[in-house]
Amino acid sequence: MEKSLVIIKPDAVGKKIIGEIIARFEKEDLTIEKLKMARIDRKLACEHYCEHKDKNFFESLIKYITSDRVVIVVVSGEDAIKKVRSLIGPTDSKKAEKGTIRGDFGTDITINVIHGSDSVKSSSREIKLFFGQN
Ligand code: CDP
Ligand code: MG
Repeated sequence: MEKSLVIIKPDAVGKKIIGEIIARFEKEDLTIEKLKMARIDRKLACEHYCEHKDKNFFESLIKYITSDRVVIVVVSGEDAIKKVRSLIGPTDSKKAEKGTIRGDFGTDITINVIHGSDSVKSSSREIKLFFGQN
């Protein structure tokens, strides 16, 4: 079964919409395999977002993701990666349609509620990074 690594970001925890987000996945018949709450430290944040290390938004992204607790989730199901990404909507919350998670709850292109893996390769790397080998 395909797996996606999801991070419910600090703004979403602050807005008390953890349950709402998880309910949207379950309604699409996706399964919550693993779930934990944690505060991501700078080192882990940089590792997770290493593909963006040379981008101009990197520093604000790291500040944001380490600013408060997050919920880290492994979501599984048929086509889980694509399904999760389409429930989330595009990166820029302002361009995301109503009915998507970012369209309904996001603030802008940085403060955008949630992360979802973009491919099988990044999903397995990210699951290993946050949950270890098993
Ligand atoms: O999260 P997603 O895969 O949609 O976007 P990304 O291009 O992989 O960027 C990772 C994260 O960096 C985004 O979710 C935003 O929080 C942040 N970002 C930003 O602050 N400014 C941008 N121009 C692009 C992304
Ligand atoms: Mg991405």
